[in-house]
Amino acid sequence: MKKFKRIGVLTSGGDAPGMNAAIRAITRKALDEGVEVMGIIGGYSGLINEKLIPLTSGAVSNIITHGGTMLYSDRCPEFKTEEGMQKAVATCKKYNIDAIVAIGGDGTFRGATDLTLRGIPTIGVTGTIDNDITATDYTVGFDTAMNTVLETVDRLRDTCESHARCNVVEVMGRDCGQIALMTGISSGAMAVCIPEIPFDEDAAIAEINKAKEQGKRGMIVVVSEGVFATDANGNKVPYGELLRNTIEEKTGIETKFARLAHIVRGGSPTLRDRLTATKMGAKAVELLLEGKSNLVVIEDNGEITSLDILFALTTDRMYKNKLKDGDLDKFGAEELRAMEAICEKRREEISTLYKMAQEICR
Ligand code: ADP
Ligand code: F6P
Repeated sequence: MKKFKRIGVLTSGGDAPGMNAAIRAITRKALDEGVEVMGIIGGYSGLINEKLIPLTSGAVSNIITHGGTMLYSDRCPEFKTEEGMQKAVATCKKYNIDAIVAIGGDGTFRGATDLTLRGIPTIGVTGTIDNDITATDYTVGFDTAMNTVLETVDRLRDTCESHARCNVVEVMGRDCGQIALMTGISSGAMAVCIPEIPFDEDAAIAEINKAKEQGKRGMIVVVSEGVFATDANGNKVPYGELLRNTIEEKTGIETKFARLAHIVRGGSPTLRDRLTATKMGAKAVELLLEGKSNLVVIEDNGEITSLDILFALTTDRMYKNKLKDGDLDKFGAEELRAMEAICEKRREEISTLYKMAQEICR
C-alpha cells in the first residue's frame, strides 16, 4: 500500500454527464483511505495556473445528479508544451499533490502520461460521451448522451408523423458512430449513417420511397457528425445537411434537418453513468494506492479493470488507422495480438449492429 498524503483530481476535454459522480467517488474513496483530495479547476490549465480547491466529503455532496463538471473543464494547449507541463509539475510539488486522477478522453490520457513521466503518478478515468476509446467497452457519459438523443428524436418523430415529413438528425460523436448507430436503432430510424461504414445513399432513398408508398408518414434518418461530403463548390461539408436536400429532392417528402450538437452533452446522468463513474473513480484511487500509475480505468465485458495508457492509446490508433512509424515497436507479440483482438471486437460489434439496423429499421 503506497502512502499518499494528498491527491488531485481534474476533468479535462469535452465534459460528460457522470464526471461529477466520478469526482465524488474519487474524493470519498480517497478520504476513506486517509488521503486528502484537491480539486483542480479547469483541467490541466488549473494545474498550470494554480487553481485548486480542497475537496471534502461535503464539497462533493449533491453533485451525483448534476451534468457538467463541478471542477469545470478546458482544452489547454499550453499543457502540451514542456514549459506548461513543468509548471503543472511545480504546482503539484508546491501543493504537496502526490498523484493525480484525470477524468476525460484520449487527449486527457496523453496528458496523464506526460505527468507520470515527469514524476507525478497519474491514472485516467474515462469521461466522454463519444465512447470512442477503443480499449474500453464504455466511457462515462455515453449512456446519458444516447438517452438525450433518443428523447429528442422521439419528439421529432411525433411532429414528422403529424406532417408526413422526414427529419435528418445529426448527432455528436466525432469520428465514432456509436451514438448515431445505437440511437438510430433505438429510435426506429429509416437509415443510419456513420463514419465507420460506407453509406449506401441510393438504397436509403429507395427504402424511404418504398415506405412512403406503403403509407409511412414520419421518417427519421440519423447521421453522425463525423460523416462529411463534398458540396457543389468542392468544399468539405457535414453530410447530414446534404442528405436532407437529397432526400427531399429524390422522394418529394418535405425534409427537415436538426443538429443536436451540445444539447447531447448536458443533463443529469443516467443510472448507468452514475454507477460506472462511481466504480471507475473508486478503482482509480485503489490503483494509485497499490502504487500503480499511467493506467486508464476501463470496462471490459462488464468488469472494471485497467490498461496501460500507452497500450490503450496505441490500440486506439490501430483501430482508427492512425498508427505512426514506430508506434508498435514498444510492444511484444502478445500485446500486439491483444490489441488486434480489441480492435476486432469493436469492428464486429459495429458491423453486427449496422446490419441489424439495415434489416430492422424500415
Ligand atoms: P479529450 O480528453 O476529451 O480527448 P482533448 O483532446 O481536448 O480532449 O484533450 C484534453 C486536454 O488534454 C488538452 O486540452 C490538453 O491539455 C491535454 N492533452 C491533449 N493532448 C495532449 C498531448 N499530446 N500531450 C499532453 N497533453 C495533451
Ligand atoms: O468529445 C466530445 C465532443 O462532444 C464530440 O462529440 C464533439 O465533436 C466535440 O466534443 C465538440 O467539442 P467542443 O465542445 O469543443 O465544441
